[in-house]
Amino acid sequence: MTMALIEVEGLRKDFTVTRKTGVLRRARAVVHAVDGLTFSVERGEIVGYIGPNGAGKSTTVKMLTGILVPTAGRISVGGLVPTDRRTELARRIGVLFGQRVQLWWDLPLIESFELLRHMYRVGADRYRENLATFRELLELDPFLGTPVRQLSLGQRVRGELTAAMLHDPEILFLDEPTIGLDIVAKQRVREFLLRANREHGVTVLLTTHDLADIERLARRILIIDHGRLIYDGELEALKRRFGPRRVLVVDLVEPAPPLRVDGGEVVRTDGPRQWIAFDGDRITAAALIAAVTAVAAVRDLTLEEPEIESVVREIYAGRARPEAGPIRGS
Ligand SMILES: Nc1ncnc2c1ncn2[C@@H]1O[C@H](COP(=O)(O)OP(=O)(O)OP(=O)(O)O)[C@@H](O)[C@H]1O
Ligand SMILES: [Mg+2]
Repeated sequence: MTMALIEVEGLRKDFTVTRKTGVLRRARAVVHAVDGLTFSVERGEIVGYIGPNGAGKSTTVKMLTGILVPTAGRISVGGLVPTDRRTELARRIGVLFGQRVQLWWDLPLIESFELLRHMYRVGADRYRENLATFRELLELDPFLGTPVRQLSLGQRVRGELTAAMLHDPEILFLDEPTIGLDIVAKQRVREFLLRANREHGVTVLLTTHDLADIERLARRILIIDHGRLIYDGELEALKRRFGPRRVLVVDLVEPAPPLRVDGGEVVRTDGPRQWIAFDGDRITAAALIAAVTAVAAVRDLTLEEPEIESVVREIYAGRARPEAGPIRGS
């Protein structure tokens, strides 16, 4: 059997926390931050790792990158056990925690890069080439000479991303890489990651609260909650499974009473525009469009697809949760 690039089996992490319960009293409690995770990631995949606040995402990334020792379970990243082989692993992975500062606080950004270059023994040509690419793609030039402490969140995150990639890692672990970025910068980071994946085959595990990141980048997602996997599969399959009904929006030549078509139900009208909801499993969009055009003169049609936002909102709220075990999408 061949091994996947990242393998996680029965992974757990407990934290013991003490809480103040009175003037002199403290109670100890155990938090099961990661509670029995099993999954694997193949080389070249971009996997979205999502879940509500406190679900255990960052804790997982910390274990995968060797920062935290698991309470139980097995991890293999590129054939290495992260906590046993941290140095070796560091040469092969890139890590970004958007919420934490990893760069040297008092150094200008460019000096951080120089230091990393020496730490990772990146060749001079390679370094020059990579830095030039990142400067352009992430628009670093205006603040390359600025101490990290003076950077805005979005500037710092772009710097951190560069730092994570200067040594051409095979695997990127990105924990909220678009946090604090404006729309244009987000777009640039996404393009940048797609390019790294497409052109260099970089494998990416990506945590984010911005589902547009996921839509743009990941075909496959893992959803965790309370430290457990609740979905492992394709984004599209998730949408099909839990997505609200699809809606056909019809612009009629003239305003009309709600159309009556088999398989569809008019849920809203506004002048000549009508919204027809339908169940994609029962009738195809094509069949519905044919039925509509048979009974009315149509000027324009658009199809509203289920939105990932609403699907995920339902899942986080527990309304679309499978009763037992993770759902595996196809
Ligand atoms: N060092 C720690 N000591 C004690 N508890 C911790 C520690 N780190 C994390 N936790 C707890 O473990 C749980 C998972 O935290 P984690 O940071 O992994 O969540 P997350 O999914 O990354 O959330 P977010 O989306 O808010 O970043 C939370 O209940 C958190 O309070
Ligand atoms: Mg986190």
